[in-house]
Formats: sequence, C-alpha cells, structure tokens
Amino acid sequence: MANADGPSTANRVLLSIEWATISAGIVATIAVFVQSYARRPKPEVDAAAAVLAAKSSCEGGTGTRASLHAWVDGAELPAEPTAPEPTLDDALRARGAQLFATTCFNCHGVHGDGKGPLAATLELRPADLTVGTYALRTTEHEALPTDIDLFRTITRGIHGTAMPPWFALPERDRWALVAYVKSLSKAFTEDEAPPPVDIGQPPQTTPARIEHGRQLFATSGCASCHGAEGRGDGPAGTSLTTATGWPLKPRDFTKGRFHRGSRTVDIYTSLVTGFDGTPMASFVKVLGPDDLWDLAMFVHELAPAVVDQPGGLRCRKSTPATPNADELVGLRTVLRTLPPTH
Ligand code: HEC
Ligand code: HEC
Repeated sequence: MANADGPSTANRVLLSIEWATISAGIVATIAVFVQSYARRPKPEVDAAAAVLAAKSSCEGGTGTRASLHAWVDGAELPAEPTAPEPTLDDALRARGAQLFATTCFNCHGVHGDGKGPLAATLELRPADLTVGTYALRTTEHEALPTDIDLFRTITRGIHGTAMPPWFALPERDRWALVAYVKSLSKAFTEDEAPPPVDIGQPPQTTPARIEHGRQLFATSGCASCHGAEGRGDGPAGTSLTTATGWPLKPRDFTKGRFHRGSRTVDIYTSLVTGFDGTPMASFVKVLGPDDLWDLAMFVHELAPAVVDQPGGLRCRKSTPATPNADELVGLRTVLRTLPPTH
C-alpha cells in the first residue's frame, strides 16, 4: 500500500493546512472574546454612570444613590447622629473591625495604615489611621478628635477626595467604625479628646465685616497660599504636602468642596482648629474671634451659593461640581457595598 509508511506528502500538506486553519480559528475566536471582554465596561463603572445619569436628591431623586449623586455634585450631607452615642465596647469594636475589612480596607489598608489596594491609584492618599492625627475635628489644634467628629467624617465623606460618605450604613454601624478606627492608633489609649472648642454665637454677617475679612485675607497670609481671589493659586501654595508627604493643594473656595462645610460657622471652626496633618494651620493664636469671623464671612462669600433643604441636605444653587477621578473611585467603592435596589 502506498500509505503504509504514513501519510503521503500531499496528505501531509493537506493535514498541516487543516491544522493551520483550526489554530487560526482558535486564535481568532480568542481574539474576539478578548476584544468583547475588553469592550465590556466594568460593572462598577456602569453603577457609577447609572448614579450620575439618574436624578440626585437635590433634583428630587430619592434613595441612597440619589444622595450619593448629590454628594458628587458638591452637596453637603447631613452628618449629625439621630440617637445618642452607644457605649463603644468590645462587641461594637469587633463589629467595626468586620465592617472596616469589607468597606474601608480598599483605601486605608487592613491595618489602617493607608496602604490599601486602591491607595496608589489616588491623587490624594488615604489617611494613615495609625498615626492619630486628624484634620476634621472640633477640638483644639493638635488634640484628638471627639467620637462624634469621627462619626461626622464617616457619615458625610470628604469632598474632592476618594473618602466617600457612608450615611447608608446604619447609625450603629458607623459608631462601630468609630470604635474600630480609634483602636487603630495608640494615641487614643494614651490620651483622650478634650471637649470641642467654644465657638460662641455666630455673629450677623454684614457687608462691612465681609470687606474687613477681604483685607485680612490679604494681610494675614491666607492669600499667599489660597491666592488673592481665593482660587487656591497663591505663590506659596504650589509645593505643599501633607504631614505624610503627599502633595496637597490649598482649597479653591470658588469651587466649594469644603471638607468640613461651607457655612460661615464651619469655616470659622476650621480657622480655630486648623487641619492637623496639613499645611492649613490654626489661626486662633494669631487673630482674635472678631477677625476670624470676618475672615470666615469673606471665605463664605467666595464659595458657591448653597440652599438648605429639609433634613439638613445642603444643595448647590447652580452648577454642580464636576466629579474628579478620586471622588469617582470613592463613589464606586461605596456603591459596591450597597444592595442593588437601595
Ligand atoms: C475609596 C477610598 C476610601 C475608602 C473606601 C475609605 N476612605 Fe477614608 N479616606 C480616604 C482618603 C483619600 C482620606 C484622606 C482625605 C484627606 O486627606 O483630606 C480619608 C480620610 C479618612 C479619615 C480621616 C479624616 C481626618 O479628619 O483627617 C477617616 C477617619 C476615614 N477616612 C475613615 C474611613 C472609614 C471608617 C472608611 C470605611 C467606612 C473609609 N474611610 C473608607 C479614602 C477612603
Ligand atoms: C501654608 C498655606 C496656607 C495658608 C497660609 C492658609 N491656608 Fe487655608 N488651606 C491650606 C491647605 C493646603 C488647605 C487644604 C487642606 C486639606 O485639603 O485638607 C486649606 C484649607 C482651608 C480651608 C478649607 C476648610 C474646609 O472645610 O475644607 C479654609 C476655609 C481655609 N483654608 C482658610 C484659610 C484662611 C482664612 C487663611 C488665612 C487666615 C488660610 N486658610 C491660610 C493652606 C493654607
């Protein structure tokens, strides 16, 4: 038989052509699959886009996603607890540890050192919670924050950064997180938070006081960082860093996005306490209360106008803020923790 020693040359050629066709087919199928996979948007990108396409709670939308949309648009969220603070005991701390490992570790890391898997993708790095230095406090410069300060930060998030608001978690869970966050730094066992600074009664804003605030802004060093018009573009503001060494820009007041809040009383509190861990100092030893109120009134005047809604939500009167990349990372992270119909 002609083929007793194996396939003839012609058959061998035919066989290799067949193999070539089959492998090309396999390669093409894989390519199509890879392409369609690459084209398919990641599910959490869709979730963020869906939130931004729907009505925000400032536009009459309801539910958690509508409030998250309002937050990304620059609205300030209510942050006060409705029930008294529970005892921060071991059971609550354990609950907090559990929640931290599922909701916060992405950014802050499992040990709270700010080195979570998402950290390197962010423009402003997550806080290192093992240090015990906090920007958002109602206590004096260099003191620890109160429990309720931490509760407020967790509830309302930090505008302009990846730190999203966690108001959708039950209040008790937010207290559990407070308990756990405190256990991450030995500062809270060595010391305790003093009572909040006494800010007294906010005085009446007048054009004369705003004008005086404008002068102080130029003469008290504020303009050197924040710029003459408060746009965050002063000459001394270009190479600032956080205490942990990450680049940080002075706030552009005309864009809003206040970390604490844009009410005159919020700004006044920030001037008294300073933002520890950042170049934003406390001015309480430099200027008297009247001058600090005048400055706060001037800064408030620069910020986008806000309308108070029932329930404590504060919505922008006009143009919403354009979300930055960090805020979108935060939005996606918080969305991933929500049940689909929340
Ligand atoms: C998507 C990233 C991200 C997630 C998730 C996240 N954070 Fe943050 N967090 C940040 C960033 C970024 C900062 C720093 C903001 C700044 O320096 O202004 C921060 C700051 C903080 C601060 C310090 C505020 C201060 O006063 O200095 C606390 C407390 C905090 N986060 C708690 C939490 C808790 C609790 C959770 C989980 C429920 C959480 N964070 C989840 C990004 C995140
Ligand atoms: C050395 C530079 C520097 C000087 C001087 C300075 N600031 Fe700031 N300020 C900053 C930085 C940086 C931030 C942003 C901190 C952050 O993002 O955590 C900031 C934030 C703020 C905020 C934002 C509060 C919020 O809720 O987000 C206000 C208000 C403010 N500064 C007002 C003032 C006023 C008024 C003065 C003058 C009395 C002043 N600053 C002087 C650097 C400076």
